[in-house]
Amino acid sequence: TEPLKIALAGLGTVGTGVVRLIETNAALIARRARRPIQITAVSARDRSKDRGVDLSRYAWADDPAELAARDDVDVVVEMVGGSDGPALALARTAIAGGKSLVTANKAMIAHHGLELADAAEKTGVALKFEAAVAGGIPVINGMIDGAAANAIDRVYGILNGTCNYILSSMEDTGADFADVLAEAQRLGYAEADPTFDVEGIDAAHKLSILGAIAFGAKLDFAGVETVGISQVKAADIEQAHALGYVVRLLGMSELERDPAGDRLFQRVRPYLVPVDHPLANVDGPTNAVVAEGNFMGRLLFQGAGAGDGPTASAVVADIIDIARGEKGPAFSMPVAELQPFGKAS
Ligand code: NDP
Ligand code: HSE
Repeated sequence: TEPLKIALAGLGTVGTGVVRLIETNAALIARRARRPIQITAVSARDRSKDRGVDLSRYAWADDPAELAARDDVDVVVEMVGGSDGPALALARTAIAGGKSLVTANKAMIAHHGLELADAAEKTGVALKFEAAVAGGIPVINGMIDGAAANAIDRVYGILNGTCNYILSSMEDTGADFADVLAEAQRLGYAEADPTFDVEGIDAAHKLSILGAIAFGAKLDFAGVETVGISQVKAADIEQAHALGYVVRLLGMSELERDPAGDRLFQRVRPYLVPVDHPLANVDGPTNAVVAEGNFMGRLLFQGAGAGDGPTASAVVADIIDIARGEKGPAFSMPVAELQPFGKAS
């Protein structure tokens, strides 16, 4: 059988994780994908950097845009980051040129997901972004497939591993905010600009994507009310604890049904969570997403929200889906049918 040929743009935490995963699990991936997955070309900024993986078998491109023009590439995997710039240029060119796109980039999907999904529908390619929301947790597929029969009332949860790592470490060890953030950066959890994590922007990117999937709504990142954790002090955490609460940065997307027009409320902010609530025991870079549907009841997805292995697992799951011939839209319905909701007032 013909292998599915893929090109990797970005060889940092996620990109090198994908190389390691595809090489380590090649045989089982080929069985499940019903064909081998073959990396043909890779790209990053600095060719001389030691990344701990052998890249000598793959063609190298200094400019990720070159990957979209190659004949030996069926799927472009974007792991560069940034809502615009080289990531967006690559995504647009790849899709317009008839190549499927897999991305871990929530900033790009939150800002340009509808445009990219529309373009992918037109050229008949797949656009997939499982890794963009909650790292290794298959929450996008879970909502599109597993929860497909339900009207969803509410989705909420812990969507940023770095903030959860900071808050739970401050709570457990009394560690200093700046020290824990530096550790989260060292471990590869944080965004290139960690302001996106601590100010709640990354969680808002993810919430807007999750809401669009769960409610069949138009992506509305600008409509997410966002407050981060930069103002949370050690004393706040201590006082919350004395009262039986922990502090967690949650994203919450809730539908208010109204005959005059349903409204979607989207919020990211630090919440006081009672210590006996399941989300209170979610520590470290773990994420957890709760979805409430009218027939399934309450579903809880929990797992690693950041880091090389878990994120690579979600990226490669998307590649396997494409290898199996699944070309369906990444949104749960065609872009033209997505419903705009009135903004929260
Ligand atoms: P890194 O910063 O570790 O890696 C980014 C990679 O992109 C590097 O290899 C870098 O090259 C390359 N790159 C950056 N800018 C350019 C450019 N202008 N031209 C060419 N190549 C460039 O990021 P991550 O791997 O952590 O994240 C990648 C994406 O995955 C982001 O969208 C992030 O939000 C998302 N993500 C990350 C998760 C995580 O846990 N880290 C989890 C889920 C999603 P070089 O190495 O040469 O500098
Ligand atoms: N910076 C992100 C986080 C990476 O900490 O959750 C995973 O999307």
